[in-house]
Amino acid sequence: MRENNPLRIGLIGFGCVGQGFYNIVEQQPGLNLAITRIAVKTPGKARPLPAECFTYHADELLADPDLDLLVEVIDDATEAFRLVSAALRQGRRVATANKAMLARHLPELVQLQAEFGGTLLYEAAVCGSIPVVRTLDQYFSHEPLRAVSGIFNGSSNYVLTRMSEEGSDYAVALAEAQALGFAETDPSLDMGAFDPRSKAVILAAHAYGVFLAVDEVLNLGIEGIAAADIAWAAAQGQKIKVVAGLYRLPGGGLTALVTPQLLGPESALYGVEREFNGVVIEAEFAGTQFLQGRGAGGHPTGSAVLADVLALRRGLRYAYAKRPTAPDAQLTHGLELEAYVRHPDAGVLREVLTWLELPPEALHTDAHGSFATGAVPVQQLWAWRQELRSLGVFVARQGEVRPVAVPAGAALATAELV
Ligand code: HSE
Repeated sequence: MRENNPLRIGLIGFGCVGQGFYNIVEQQPGLNLAITRIAVKTPGKARPLPAECFTYHADELLADPDLDLLVEVIDDATEAFRLVSAALRQGRRVATANKAMLARHLPELVQLQAEFGGTLLYEAAVCGSIPVVRTLDQYFSHEPLRAVSGIFNGSSNYVLTRMSEEGSDYAVALAEAQALGFAETDPSLDMGAFDPRSKAVILAAHAYGVFLAVDEVLNLGIEGIAAADIAWAAAQGQKIKVVAGLYRLPGGGLTALVTPQLLGPESALYGVEREFNGVVIEAEFAGTQFLQGRGAGGHPTGSAVLADVLALRRGLRYAYAKRPTAPDAQLTHGLELEAYVRHPDAGVLREVLTWLELPPEALHTDAHGSFATGAVPVQQLWAWRQELRSLGVFVARQGEVRPVAVPAGAALATAELV
């Protein structure tokens, strides 16, 4: 790149994030950035710039040697992978916000950077404006972490806030989150906790050096939530939040899951509302830290893209420093959690009790109907996850995931053998 010329950027995608980034760059001419080409998919769509500003062939940007770097902010993960991997094969510098693509292809993308010398940064892919990828990758590059957990999805958090503060209907609150530009094109990715699961998988690579297989991480969402659940939580002085967590287990392994969780005011995440996200980092030596910020929206996410573009200009690369010491993943077997389970149909709920190995005494009744509480094997939640989702069963955890307690006799027998 010529020293005093602006950095020439090819922008692929001009939706909420692309427009947010464009607008931020326009407002700051002193940054010496120039978005010289923009690629979009659909001709004829109403856009805030004249049609001649766009090309409809992203491959033209890949073939353009005058572009200093590429910003990819489309929502099609398959096409994003094709474009980003092709750019990395050319040794280019790329910023992406595509969490679904990253969660599925991170090992290959890291390999392509090593092989061809390009660079990929993706702060905008996780928790919008919160600088959590770089914090984990750079600042905590060599500090053991006990846990990294938080609210990683703005849309579902917005819906939960609207339902609990205003008593809004789920569908109305979701429509608002969509209208405000927080939700994915397919909002079931937000409400079903697939989106925060992708973000947890990305953070695992930086916080622990682990490349988790995204489809093997348990994610339970809020599609089945009802006013009864929010009322029950409130009666305990708690709120329901969708919490994504990476936790070191006592034996040294790493577990990961994303589920609704009941939280009291003692939790830093209790006060994280609307589209805000929050991340709690529990570090071995630094202690606990909490980051909070807007997790979705054009300007907050565009701001993270800008941070990556400026970092690419000065040569930053992620370190992935914990790769050599990555712990094993233990995702479902040998783990349990305290669960709260509700479904409006008592017959369905009784059936769910058997799936989750909950005894009949786990069943309770309140003014809104029946629900169950008790220790549930994570393996059973995993085995029945599709049925739970399709039936609209609402499941939340109360507290952290833990190894299944070994019966006292069994522990003694093992100890004697040793
Ligand atoms: N749909 C995502 C969310 C956008 O609601 O958090 C930001 O990744």
